[in-house]
Amino acid sequence: MRKILLTLLLSASLGVSFADNANKPTVEILATGGTIAGTASSQTSTIYKAGSLTAEQLIASVNGLSDLANIQYAQVYNKDSGDITLSDWLHLASEVQKAADNPKINAIVITHGTDTMEETAYFLDLVIKTNKPIILVGAMRPATSMSSDGPLNLYNAVAVAIDKQSSSRGVLVAMNEKIFDSRNVTKTNTTEAEAFQQPNGGTIGNVNMGKVSYQSIATRANTNSTPFSVNQESKLPDVEIIYEYAGVNPQMLDHILDTKGLKGLVIAGVGDGNIPSYEKDFLIKARKKGIVIVRSSRVGSGAVSYDYNNLDTTYDLIAADNLNPQKARILLMLSLMKTNNIKQIQTNFSTY
Ligand code: SIN
Repeated sequence: MRKILLTLLLSASLGVSFADNANKPTVEILATGGTIAGTASSQTSTIYKAGSLTAEQLIASVNGLSDLANIQYAQVYNKDSGDITLSDWLHLASEVQKAADNPKINAIVITHGTDTMEETAYFLDLVIKTNKPIILVGAMRPATSMSSDGPLNLYNAVAVAIDKQSSSRGVLVAMNEKIFDSRNVTKTNTTEAEAFQQPNGGTIGNVNMGKVSYQSIATRANTNSTPFSVNQESKLPDVEIIYEYAGVNPQMLDHILDTKGLKGLVIAGVGDGNIPSYEKDFLIKARKKGIVIVRSSRVGSGAVSYDYNNLDTTYDLIAADNLNPQKARILLMLSLMKTNNIKQIQTNFSTY
């Protein structure tokens, strides 16, 4: 008896997985890279290589994961999230959909770099068709650093994934003991462990050493309730972002219009999505070329008022509501796969 107990304790402390247990939920961990899988030459170095550890190494480094769930994993790619391309998104979406459609898998956790995590999360939130929990997680400190936040973040993400209340909430992000919805979450700090916030409304829940509590739900239509879907062959239209500031040189903007295949623009306007009046000709030229333009804001919180300064009715623009520019780009890309109709796309921005 003592021997069995000792073996169990040793195995647990080494993070060794036991055979699948029918009483536990099964979680598929899809690893994509990021700082959570990053390694540095010293415990305190800020120079490191994101996406160095494999999914297997990452999972083995977290004691207690196999106490929570049967863990399966796949390495989708292993990158710094700033290097993620549109075709990476399509590849990831197809892996997530495959896992979501597998009756043996109860929930999905995606390990991801934090720099573009909010974009991947919102993209998946709009295109994946499932009620199963899908949780993105990363780390601000590499796996080799002093007090790395990755292991606890991953443990907590699996705890969120298996929690009964996590179903039908769309895609979530679990970082630093907080749970966020993918539409509203954004990265707000370059280096601190407390790097994510929902500027328009706090968090939706907390997870403390695997104990999950929810305070609110994401209210916008997501996953099963959107008309958007993709497959590996989908062509996501080219949509770029323009950032406004005092004294923009309008000549620089004209060059953007020469971009081959450009279908849409998101303008990160000043204040309430405002656009300098001397960009009037640029807006007219862009619209004449059929480029669809969404007005978002560089401010970081709050909604863009429809037709602020008569911009939308005068130049046939779309107001992004409270979507930040990088997420407005995603909704515009997916909308343009279905329509060029400005009214319909405006409705999409009030719905998703
Ligand atoms: C990345 O986004 O891949 C690097 C930064 C991070 O994960 O925190």
